[in-house]
Amino acid sequence: MHFAGSFPATRMRRNRRDAWSRTLSAESRLAPQDLIWPIFLTSGTGQRVPVASMPGVFRVSVDRVAEHVAEAVSLGIPAVALFPYTPMEERDKDGTGALDPENLMCRAARALKKAHPELGLIGDVALDTHTSHGHDGVVRDGHVHNEESVEILSRMAVLQAEAGMDCVAPSDMMDGRIGAIRAALDARGLEHTRIMSYAAKYASGFFAPFRDAVGSLVGPDRAGPSDKKTYQMDPANGDEALREVALDVAEGADMVMVKPGLPYLDVLYRVRKEFGLPTFVYQVSGEYSMIMAAVERGWLDHDRAMMEGLMAFKRAGANGILTYFAVSAARRLKEG
Ligand code: PBG
Repeated sequence: MHFAGSFPATRMRRNRRDAWSRTLSAESRLAPQDLIWPIFLTSGTGQRVPVASMPGVFRVSVDRVAEHVAEAVSLGIPAVALFPYTPMEERDKDGTGALDPENLMCRAARALKKAHPELGLIGDVALDTHTSHGHDGVVRDGHVHNEESVEILSRMAVLQAEAGMDCVAPSDMMDGRIGAIRAALDARGLEHTRIMSYAAKYASGFFAPFRDAVGSLVGPDRAGPSDKKTYQMDPANGDEALREVALDVAEGADMVMVKPGLPYLDVLYRVRKEFGLPTFVYQVSGEYSMIMAAVERGWLDHDRAMMEGLMAFKRAGANGILTYFAVSAARRLKEG
């Protein structure tokens, strides 16, 4: 064994001794340019409503969205991901609000393109924020119907792109939706609209605060639909994530995503290594709220927990991170 013989010549602590050599030895770096900020939209005017289960996160009305993202833009955050809050009385079983050209997403896209033309706009494509049952597609005979859902999602994607979304992000996990959306966009001359696929999205308990944020607390226990297991992935599976990503890449995805983040770092690592295309990770609502809850109790240090978690995504191979911490992390990075 050479190991014993190399000591004391090899001392791992030597590079760690001072800040300058720690900096030069760092293998990963985090910058505001790595971050994507998810934004929740709400109807009305002058609204900035706190989300109860996500301390520090707000829903904003369209008239305030440009000012809401101004600091993110000035900090160098390249893109925001938009999600609408839809109260139960405005939902229906087929999520028809998704196809209204005057819906929150389309109006926000127009407002943001005008106010911040350089900011990347990523639109959520799924029906859960519009359906009364909270599923990501339409339900027929007790099942989320794949083809009919894909057809609606394709029209939803075109509508968002026409309103100004630079990128559509299907978060629904229907089979074949990437190819269908690509074809629908191209048929309308929207060949430059990017597709960020939620390629490996797991049936996760860590989405609960998001369902509060978008008004999807449906069902008798207001916990949202419990059976997204028929379209989202089983947390037991890793190889299957690679098959999902391979299909989405073949269908034309420009960027792929793994979601949630921290519990699935192995999946993120494998996806980036295997495909090498722009790979994103979503640090989801539950991950955010766990940290914030511990911070509120004084059990974790906010900045340290936040920065360490985000760096872990970079180390595992993420090109970028969707995170509710985007603005606080970018501020922190700017301060140095
Ligand atoms: C659904 C969707 C979900 C999230 C983004 N899009 C939740 C779900 O699948 O029920 C979760 C994001 C988060 O938890 O932060 N299309």
